[in-house]
Amino acid sequence: MYNARPVIIGLAVFIGLTTFPIWRALEKAAPAPEPELDTPAIQQMPEKLCVEATPTMRARHMQLLGDWRAGVVRDGRTVYAGQAGKKYEMSLQKTCLKCHANKDKFCDQCHDYAGVQPDCWTCHIAPGENKP
Ligand code: HEC
Ligand code: HEC
Ligand code: HEC
Repeated sequence: MYNARPVIIGLAVFIGLTTFPIWRALEKAAPAPEPELDTPAIQQMPEKLCVEATPTMRARHMQLLGDWRAGVVRDGRTVYAGQAGKKYEMSLQKTCLKCHANKDKFCDQCHDYAGVQPDCWTCHIAPGENKP
């Protein structure tokens, strides 16, 4: 009788080593998104706060934007009271993208990762875009 243990361990190591490049490639193909907050407007903030709490923004910014749009276009409301009672103009370009002026390193980071492509930029102007 031969001892199966070393054979199995050897096999496990062999499989681990040969598939390692595949694991590496998978990891590289889908790096977790790291939305960047490094913009002049955010740097100037004494307290780095979004319109609502960050977890809320992460999960619900699409609804918030939809509410803003409906509010402005349908009801003619323009001011939104965010967390801590701070007031914001309800505008994608003038508000969100003033702080998050790095759309490609912020919004797009997550959206590319999640495979969503919100169609806003055919009409709304992203910072740095040279459209009228
Ligand atoms: C077909 C063109 C078009 C597309 C696409 C579009 N919008 Fe708009 N949006 C408008 C127009 C026109 C207004 C009204 C502008 C105004 O009254 O100042 C507006 C207003 C808004 C407003 C409120 C006012 C402001 O300045 O931001 C928000 C918020 C908004 N849209 C969000 C979005 C989001 C988010 C998307 C993508 C999911 C989007 N829109 C896609 C045309 C568009
Ligand atoms: C006054 C500046 C400011 C405005 C205006 C603003 N943000 Fe933010 N936003 C921030 C800051 C600062 C953070 C990071 C907060 C933190 O570190 O917890 C943030 C975080 C976020 C996050 C979460 C990012 C993550 O890492 O998960 C999302 C999503 C977001 N903002 C979207 C928006 C949208 C959409 C709007 C417009 C409706 C908006 N923001 C308006 C400053 C702003
Ligand atoms: C922390 C990651 C993250 C950041 C940062 C982020 N988004 Fe999103 N966004 C998502 C995810 C994930 C979805 C898809 C959610 C779903 O389908 O439920 C989404 C969806 C959306 C939608 C709805 C799209 C649709 O077709 O339904 C809009 C509009 C949107 N984001 C706008 C923005 C804007 C504008 C910014 C930058 C100011 C931004 N997002 C930043 C993660 C993010």
